[in-house]
Amino acid sequence: MTEKDFIPSKSIELIEKGKVAYKSPSNIALVKYWGKKEGQIPANPSISFTLSACATTTKISFKKLDSPTQQYSFDFFFEGNPKPSFRPKIETFFKRIEAYIPYLKGYHFIMETSNSFPHSSGIASSASGMSALALCLMEIERMHIPEMDPDFFVKKASFLARLGSGSACRSIEGPLVVWGGQEEIPDSTDLYGIRYNFEVHPVFKNFHDTILLVDKGQKQVSSTVGHDLVKGHPFSEQRFKQAHRNLSLLKPILRTGNLKEFIKVVESEALTLHAIMMTGDPYFVLMKPNTLEIIHRIWAFREASGSHVCFTLDAGANVHVLYPENEKEQVHQFIVNELVAYCENQQYICDRIGLGAIRLKV
Ligand code: PMV
Repeated sequence: MTEKDFIPSKSIELIEKGKVAYKSPSNIALVKYWGKKEGQIPANPSISFTLSACATTTKISFKKLDSPTQQYSFDFFFEGNPKPSFRPKIETFFKRIEAYIPYLKGYHFIMETSNSFPHSSGIASSASGMSALALCLMEIERMHIPEMDPDFFVKKASFLARLGSGSACRSIEGPLVVWGGQEEIPDSTDLYGIRYNFEVHPVFKNFHDTILLVDKGQKQVSSTVGHDLVKGHPFSEQRFKQAHRNLSLLKPILRTGNLKEFIKVVESEALTLHAIMMTGDPYFVLMKPNTLEIIHRIWAFREASGSHVCFTLDAGANVHVLYPENEKEQVHQFIVNELVAYCENQQYICDRIGLGAIRLKV
C-alpha cells in the first residue's frame, strides 16, 4: 500500500453527530525506533511488545458544523479539565492527517482523554494517546463508510497514529508489532505497524514488564530533539544496520523461546539508544545514578539466581524490567526487596504484554 491508498476516493455525506471511544495501550520497543526521515518515516525497523495496563482512554463527541471552518474546531479535556497546552500538538496532528480525513473541518469535536498511569510518571503517553485518538477518528470514518474492510481500518488507524507520534503506530494491535520495512518480514512497511505474524514461543505470550519510575519528572529530552540528533550522527548508519540485524536475530529467538539470546538483543538495544544520545552533538545522559544501580542489580541477580529477568529503557531514566510468567514470584520479590528503593517515591507499575486497543461503548 502507499500513502495514496489512505486518501478516501469518494466524497462522503456528513452525518449530524455521534460519539466514539477507544482505550489504547502503550508499547515497549525491543528493537528501538530512534531516528526518522521526513514525514514520520522511521530510519530503521522496530519491534515492540504491546502493553496492557498503561493505556489512554479517549472519547470523542462530534457535531456537524453549519458550514466548514478554516480552523479546526475542537475542545480538549485531559482528566476532566481543559488542557490548552495540548492544543498545538493536536493542531499539528490534524494538519498532517487532513489529506486522509476529509471530515476534519466539517465537525466540532469534543475530546475527553485520560491515562491509566499517574500523570507525570515520566511515562510517555504519546503512543497510547495518539493511537487512541487515531482509532476514534477511524471509527468516525467507519460511521460514514460502514462497508469499510476491517483490515483497512486497522492499517489506516496505525498509519494515522504514526503521523501523530511514530511509536504510536505500534499500539493498535498486539502482542508483538513490527514497524518499518525489513526484508525478512513480508508486508512490513514504513507506513504503519503490522502484527508480527511468525511463530512465537509460548514463553513470550505472557511476558511481564514492571516499569520502575526512577525519574517522574518531565522528559529531559523530547523525542523530537532525540530523533533530530540522530540525523548526521557519526554512528547512525551503523546503528540503522544494527537494528535490521537485531530484528533478524529476534526471529529465531522468538520462535524457539531462547531467553538468553533474547536478553542480549534487548539489553543491547536499550544501551545503544542511550549510547547514541551520549555521543551526539549536543550530547545527553538520560540515565540517572539509580538507573545504573538497577541495571547492575539486575545483572547480579541474574548471575546469582539463573533468572531470565532483563531490562530495557526508553529515552529516559525509567527502567522496564522484563521477565517471563513462570518467574513472576521470584522476580517480583527481587524487585520489592532490591529495586523499589531506587524508584522515586518507591513507585512502579506492573504491566504485561497485551493484545492491543479496544473499542468502548458510549
Ligand atoms: O514515538 P516517538 O517519536 O516518541 O519515539 C519514541 C522512541 C522510543 O520510545 C525511544 C523507542 C521506540 O521505538 O519506542
